[in-house]
Amino acid sequence: MTDQANPNLSALAAKTAQETGEFPNLMLKEIFEQPRVLREVVAGRLDQATNRLTLNEVTLTSEQLAEIRHIYIIACGTSSHAGLIAKDLIERWTDLTVDVQIASEFVFNRPQTANDTMAIAISQSGETSDTLNALRQARANNAYIIAITNVLGSTITVESDATINVKAEVEAAVPATKSYTAQLATLALLALYLGQERQTLTSDQVAEYYSELSELGDKIALVLSQPSLESITKAAQFTAEAKSVLFLGRGNSVTTCKEGALKLKETSYLHAEAFPALEFLHGPIALIEPEDATPIVALLPVDPNDDSMNNVFDRVKSYGARLVVFATTSATKSIQNADRVIILPEASALQTPFVTAVALQLFAHDIATSLNRDIDRPRYLSKVVVEE
Ligand code: M6R
Repeated sequence: MTDQANPNLSALAAKTAQETGEFPNLMLKEIFEQPRVLREVVAGRLDQATNRLTLNEVTLTSEQLAEIRHIYIIACGTSSHAGLIAKDLIERWTDLTVDVQIASEFVFNRPQTANDTMAIAISQSGETSDTLNALRQARANNAYIIAITNVLGSTITVESDATINVKAEVEAAVPATKSYTAQLATLALLALYLGQERQTLTSDQVAEYYSELSELGDKIALVLSQPSLESITKAAQFTAEAKSVLFLGRGNSVTTCKEGALKLKETSYLHAEAFPALEFLHGPIALIEPEDATPIVALLPVDPNDDSMNNVFDRVKSYGARLVVFATTSATKSIQNADRVIILPEASALQTPFVTAVALQLFAHDIATSLNRDIDRPRYLSKVVVEE
């Protein structure tokens, strides 16, 4: 079903089209709402006196939570990328194992759900058919279902045991931006809560990570100010004529690269793919077209002393690629050969997926602007993908 076939969505689009304010489009407006949204998502969750996190939305007791053995995360598109970052946090902070499943493929992967299984269904709209179908299958097999959504009262909330509202408010542009970082922050809070309740994190660790999450609004505000904005626009103009853009990262940054590539495809209609940087040498490097000086967009590792990507940079440059690197100030010393460097604010490992995601949102937006695309309403896409 398209938005045109849904009177509610059409009305929403018409209303919000008048609400871009000082911004040229809704996507940019929603990108700039992220500092406020992130502050609101994180605020008020930690009791300062006890260092205990409260997540009243999760209705399981500590004893019931202790019985959970495995988590399935089910989601589509951008929401599935939030799920991949959440998997890393939950496995880092708890003794649980997590599978992230593309919702439409869940049925094919023989999921082993039972009453010691939690399923986390992530959906901005709460109406995506593929996610709902997977949720129903997990539910039929006795999993405890938590919905992470931006729309209270949506079908996903009705069919789940618990709902955590990501509080991004209405997101009207088709490309998901503020809902993604709000999902990330909400999932980080859930991962912290699981670590606290299962006693795999100390109260000091919970307080320390919570404090890092509390800084996110300020970090993102820095990405959204000069000189970062200007350097991203220049890098986008440098890249916009390309036929194909290849993103490279390591660790969690591979997920951010996938999200950056999805955002670029969606807004600009350019071919874009993401790869783990060292895996790129095992075949995909043949995609570099010297005549086009294929742009390679790299996110540097969080550790400023990790120069493991330099070998990859040397190789891609020697085959005629253009290199655009997003890096924090302290990491810039390890950059060789880059044609463009975008300096991002210093960020912890927990904060980095937020900072880099917003930078890549701007990058995709600016390329789409250079190409004169209909950024808020990309061709063939609608805000909610439901069965015809
Ligand atoms: O509403 P949902 O989060 O369930 O939507 C899932 C995807 O359709 C959605 O994230 C899509 O990939 C976005 N348009 C990407 O920007």
